[in-house]
Amino acid sequence: MSALFPVYPRLPITLVRAEGTRLHTADGRVITDLYGAHAVCPLGHGHPAVVEALSTAVRTLDFYSNSLVMPVQEEAAQAVLGGSAHLAYVHFVNSGTEANEAALHLARKRTGRATVVTTAGSFHGRTLGSLSVTGLPGYRGKIPVQVPADWHRSLPLGADDLSVIDETVACVLIESVESLGGIRVPPPGWLARVEARCREVGAVFALDEVQGGVGRLGTWFAHETLGCTPDLVTLAKSLGNGFPVAALVTTAAMAEGVAAGELGTTFGGGPMACAVVSAVARTIRDEGLMARVLDIEARVRAGLAGLPGVEVRGRGALLGVQTPLSAKALQAALLERDLLVGTSGQAETIRLLLPYVVSDDELDRCCAAIAEVLS
Ligand SMILES: Cc1ncc(COP(=O)(O)O)c(C=O)c1O
Repeated sequence: MSALFPVYPRLPITLVRAEGTRLHTADGRVITDLYGAHAVCPLGHGHPAVVEALSTAVRTLDFYSNSLVMPVQEEAAQAVLGGSAHLAYVHFVNSGTEANEAALHLARKRTGRATVVTTAGSFHGRTLGSLSVTGLPGYRGKIPVQVPADWHRSLPLGADDLSVIDETVACVLIESVESLGGIRVPPPGWLARVEARCREVGAVFALDEVQGGVGRLGTWFAHETLGCTPDLVTLAKSLGNGFPVAALVTTAAMAEGVAAGELGTTFGGGPMACAVVSAVARTIRDEGLMARVLDIEARVRAGLAGLPGVEVRGRGALLGVQTPLSAKALQAALLERDLLVGTSGQAETIRLLLPYVVSDDELDRCCAAIAEVLS
């Protein structure tokens, strides 16, 4: 009997080794990872730049807490900012939910208001603050206690009527692409309207780029693709290519009046995490992988074009494929063909959270297998 706390439904694969996009199972199968370890490994598994960064870091400076100055942190922060014209500071934490908690904390402090507006199909994490503003009802329902009613208001993605964003709102936190919600991209121009409304009522405008950031949509930050300039951005998932690290990125204005000790974490911004962040950012930029994700999207769209009842949604390496089949059934059928994809909160949509290093051949095999299963 397993000693692991029984909270994760598992697929019937026992993983023993991984390299690149290949997952090796205990029974000798080799499965192609089109789920990118849940949008976490843009460079695939065991990428030499990550191996080198981590092994050097563990030999030279493995860990110290944030009580000392460490140049490796500054280098990683600059790599995260990437010369952004409007963002100025990076606060490193350990997970996406923690980055969102920090965003909510800052927004509530700045405005003195409690209410947070998010979209109805959003997911923001499982700690109390993030969960209490998550839109997807199946996840919000997991809160074990009553939280104050004024903590959260919901807005349909793409809504014309933005009146729920009023002078009582601390923060509008939008998931850059609703991923678990079935891969829904905000309609063109909508985020700029939401941003303008935030400015009008004095609310903080924050973008959850935990899944959409780090180059996944074809630009380093998702908001560059989506056409808005948030006060706060949260990043996680791909940032460490599997090493746990996340970040809250802020404008200079958001840091005004923040006192030492106001946010903090023991492990956040540790030297190993920072070394990996710099290596991941450098590799994505130097190897032209942000342009590559747009080719990936085009190839998948072309490969599935014309299949009856099939709709491809998303951008870059964050794609949803809705088909007439249940996502679970399609996932199982693809797994039988040694291809791993994800499901989503939308019952007929599978998710391709692709490593940016996936090959054309692997994409073609995926599209051909989907066509075969649906035929
Ligand atoms: C958009 C988004 N925000 C936040 C989170 C929470 O991140 P973590 O699981 O690292 O806490 C997730 C995780 O799936 C996510 O997809």
